[in-house]
Amino acid sequence: MKLRRSALVATVALVAAGALNAVPASAGHPERPADLSLRALGQRSDLAIGTAVDMAALDDTTDPQYRKLVAEQFSSVTPENVMKWEVLEPTQGTYNWAPADELIAFTKQNKQRVRGHVLVWQNQLPAWLTDGVNNGTISDDQLRDILHKHITDTVSHFKGKIWQWDVVNEAASDPWDSPSTIHYKGFWTQHLGGGIIADAFRWAHQADPKALLFYNDYNIEAFGDGGPGDKTQFVYNMVKQLKHDGVPIDGVGSQGHLGTQYGDYDALQINDTLNRFTDLGLDVAFTEVDVRSQMTAGVQAGDSNEINPRLQAAAADFSALMQGCLANRRCISFTVWGFTDKHSWVPGWFKDPLEGMATLYDENYQPKRAYNTLKADLIFAGRR
Ligand code: XIL
Repeated sequence: MKLRRSALVATVALVAAGALNAVPASAGHPERPADLSLRALGQRSDLAIGTAVDMAALDDTTDPQYRKLVAEQFSSVTPENVMKWEVLEPTQGTYNWAPADELIAFTKQNKQRVRGHVLVWQNQLPAWLTDGVNNGTISDDQLRDILHKHITDTVSHFKGKIWQWDVVNEAASDPWDSPSTIHYKGFWTQHLGGGIIADAFRWAHQADPKALLFYNDYNIEAFGDGGPGDKTQFVYNMVKQLKHDGVPIDGVGSQGHLGTQYGDYDALQINDTLNRFTDLGLDVAFTEVDVRSQMTAGVQAGDSNEINPRLQAAAADFSALMQGCLANRRCISFTVWGFTDKHSWVPGWFKDPLEGMATLYDENYQPKRAYNTLKADLIFAGRR
């Protein structure tokens, strides 16, 4: 049985001294922990540090810093888009494995693990599939067979190469949806019912019994009041039932898309939430961490009065997630959804009002306060 990382959050100061002393000195050049990469520091706590990878950026020869940092700083990667259905099978029956295969080859060279993302999700589906359902040429029975085939083909293609699969993504509604009672949402459960979630895990397990299978969602970093509008509670109840039913689910991925305008959570709340999930016998991971801020006129004009508090609040949010994770042995990876503001989904997605500055490095690949804060957390935690 794996031991839980013990009360790290409360004993940071004490541990720090020991951890710093424990760092080996290399011939004449004492190795400062602060000079180590995120991945090297994560390794000291058995924690994989990951990033989503944008293949266009990885392949851009005019932007070599992107590729260099993916290799240097991260021990796990998640394809940001190239394992999504619209990319893998743009025309029915014709697979486009090449971009994802290229990423897998890159990870082999750089000794990295892969989080497969994503098998069952309502977004970024190919038009042939959604159109077919909408115009009635694909019946619900056929849709079920098509999903079964998609999962089997995809998981089989990457068999042995994927550490964790996001099998089902974002199947729970939000409190602002109607009705506000949390319920299954989206294309798949609408057409095939809630039972499709268990089936998806079973099909994925059949195709690669060794891959760890995750349910992944956002806004599940902390429990609310436990009532019908509490999304974390809904997901908790769902995965508890899946475990009870013997469905092969191994973990819960908490995306970790936070924003400095919300106040968000502290490390103890985060850790408490993870503990409740791992008490069910599941692993947990942060899978898509970023902390966005509103790009006010002042921020855009470079006003440090507006920029500094955002940088500090972002660092605090990244740190709360990291400390919460480090204090639970079954939190097995911490993945950021892009590591540089040069390549982040945030400004393209959150436009009104415009949001941004959500990652660890700025647009010129300068590490921000959040990067150093994560490193400090890893240093303080990093006893073998
Ligand atoms: C996002 C990508 O980052 C964008 O490039 C794409 O246009 C849309 O999807 N939750 C998820 C991810 O699970 O797959 C999403 O990724 C971000 C939200």
